[in-house]
Amino acid sequence: QFFGSSTCDKFLDCISNTTSTNIVFTPNDTLYSIVLKSSIPNLRFDTLTTPKPLAIITPLSYSHVQSTVICSVKFGVNIRIRSGGHDYEGLSYTSFDHAPFILIDLNELRSVNVDQEANTAWVESGATIGELAYRVSRNDSLLGFPAGECPSVGVGGHLSGGGFGTMARKYGLSVDNVMDALLVDVHGRILDRNSMGEDLFWAIRGGGGASFGVVLSWKIKLVYVPPIVTIFTLSKTLEQGAIRLVNKWQHVAHNVTKDLFINLVITPVNQEDGDNRTMQVTFNSLFLGTTDELMKIVKDEFPQLGLQEKDCVEMSWIESVVYFSFYLTGESIDALIERRPWPKSYFKAKSDYVNKPIPEQAVNEIMKWCLHENVTLIMEPHGGKMSEIDEMATPYPHRRGNMYIIQYIVGWDDVDESEQHVASIRRIYEKMTPYVSKNPREAYVNFRDLDLGTNCNASMRSYTQEEMIWGTSYFKANFKRLAMVKGMVDPTNFFSNEQSIPPLVLSS
Ligand code: FDA
Repeated sequence: QFFGSSTCDKFLDCISNTTSTNIVFTPNDTLYSIVLKSSIPNLRFDTLTTPKPLAIITPLSYSHVQSTVICSVKFGVNIRIRSGGHDYEGLSYTSFDHAPFILIDLNELRSVNVDQEANTAWVESGATIGELAYRVSRNDSLLGFPAGECPSVGVGGHLSGGGFGTMARKYGLSVDNVMDALLVDVHGRILDRNSMGEDLFWAIRGGGGASFGVVLSWKIKLVYVPPIVTIFTLSKTLEQGAIRLVNKWQHVAHNVTKDLFINLVITPVNQEDGDNRTMQVTFNSLFLGTTDELMKIVKDEFPQLGLQEKDCVEMSWIESVVYFSFYLTGESIDALIERRPWPKSYFKAKSDYVNKPIPEQAVNEIMKWCLHENVTLIMEPHGGKMSEIDEMATPYPHRRGNMYIIQYIVGWDDVDESEQHVASIRRIYEKMTPYVSKNPREAYVNFRDLDLGTNCNASMRSYTQEEMIWGTSYFKANFKRLAMVKGMVDPTNFFSNEQSIPPLVLSS
């Protein structure tokens, strides 16, 4: 009925006046559903009852984004912004408050331009992090960029929330390596770092997407990667002494040389006899150097792991990106630009930070709980460069003192099982309370979790206690600065969603 309204007709007229190409898809178009579903990895938000956009705009140029914002503001239409669509709670393409909205899908704005002389690049938000790594490496195999491990994640959302991956201990987050950005603000202007000012530039580098404007493009600093890196993957079950190794890992992984990254994936598996289930701990590692160098370090720091030369594979950095993307050796590098859709499933995730080792006995208990609830844990070490960066340098505050981040994940195939699995992961999260950060209990905004709280009312313009809970979990003391920046640049809260930064407007 929205489209029958004169407001909507005016909005659609306004948009279609800006371009001769068709960039607007409404539910009447056959392509609407294909475009909408093209980036929905989480099937929880792809059901018949999931609220859908009234129209999808797929800008082909920056002026299309400007016109969409200008027309939306003019006619009071809410917008959602999607780059790669990997938001864990689907906030980039659906709306839980059922307010009508249109979707700006940035999929077509995905160029990557590398400046080889300066070791920098401009990357558009609609590119994936797999494409970014590929293009950077193609220009110079000794250059890379620190980002996450899933190639189909969009640059737009990833850099808006931080960007943690295998090189974080060496070079920090993606946002620690952003030098400039182009953003369309609420007035439809394109701003760069100079014209947006340092407060807004600070806020968009980790303050979570969708609150301050539409980021079109990012200028990034490329980092040196050695000609040879080494990877290994080793798995141990409970029966093979996994608990003792997890315990040792907690002391080593965040303290060891910055060149070494070892994460843990702890997951329920069938035992070899096939009848019983157990927990398996997989150690996945990237070392920025050769096998010989790695073996010396592991022998000194983590001999209990029992790493042998035959477990290690030397490769180029870009091959390691492919490895961490698909957990297969021998996969083609071109797989990074194929835009393979991430396997769709129903899933729910949550996160925590750990700042003192969990006692071995408790690790044992946690494994039993996860086995019972069928929940997977991914633990990724901090330390190194992550500890050297001040917690106020960017909105991502989880720096010195954090040993590692835990991600809890549960996935399932049958929509009817959704409630039961979401309840499982919530029980695990509850039981983890004694072992993780407190006051606030910290969480990573890129692992978005609406259980932490939402803006009670999307149109509310105040900075309230309820918002403080999720806001301080993600951003600690930086939340207040984010709210103040929001108050300065978007005081009427045009760019908003269930967990967008609320505007704090200080009365003079
Ligand atoms: P999406 O398009 O859904 O956007 C996410 C949020 O940012 C939304 O609120 C959206 O509106 C907003 N937004 C998007 N583009 C914007 C723009 N141009 N301007 C302003 N706002 C914008 N993280 C990590 O740090 N390390 C990792 O290894 C991984 N791995 C991983 C694997 C898988 C399978 C998933 C599903 C997710 C991850 N993530 C991750 C989390 C990921 O970094 C996070 O979900 C990002 O926000 C996804 O960015 P997209 O652009 O894909 O999402």
